[in-house]
Amino acid sequence: MKRTVNVAVLVSGGGTNLQAIIDFAGEGKLESGNLVKVISNKADAYALTRATDAEIDTAVVIKKGRTQEEFESDLIKELDACGAEVIVLAGFMCILSKNFTDRYKDRIINVHPSLIPSFCGEGFYGLKVHEAALSYGVKVTGATVHFVNEIPDGGKIIMQRAVKIKENDTPESLQKRVMQEAEWKILPASLELVCKNILKGDSYER
Ligand code: GAR
Repeated sequence: MKRTVNVAVLVSGGGTNLQAIIDFAGEGKLESGNLVKVISNKADAYALTRATDAEIDTAVVIKKGRTQEEFESDLIKELDACGAEVIVLAGFMCILSKNFTDRYKDRIINVHPSLIPSFCGEGFYGLKVHEAALSYGVKVTGATVHFVNEIPDGGKIIMQRAVKIKENDTPESLQKRVMQEAEWKILPASLELVCKNILKGDSYER
């Protein structure tokens, strides 16, 4: 049987990007990866229901009230327990330390709802990104999938897709279109690419 790469997905909220990966896998397109676990830092994240419905193991690791070290040490325990080789941040709203990102160098990918290097870095997440794009007045935005290093949204870019801004866009309408036209397409495709490259012996710079 063909070897596949074990993939864990980290989430905090609704999980539509997780759903896009689940659907991609369900269509047989995640040929090089295998979804082994979904981990949330919020016990009530709807993403956990999506994972359970898809029969994927789940875990909750709470950040609140704990040091970064304690939080990350519990995350690592969960990741080790499921043999995760690739970690997807799919709407995961926690910053990870250099200690953590170094441990999984070129093995963590994140989806961000803008064309990096615009509207990214600390403080730019979720709707705030689209509010910033609209208030700046850019005509084109989009989404980026990138490797995660210690600099928020600063790792090497894997894929980007542009989305045109419409005159009457609100942050909400723009968020929805960026998800539909960009995030849900490039995140699963990037995941397959990264897993495929790992199986090939990793052609990315390390
Ligand atoms: C997505 O738009 C994702 O790009 C964004 O949060 C949303 C999560 O939605 N992530 C960030 O802003 C990270 N900086 P989802 O839970 O429905 O996938």
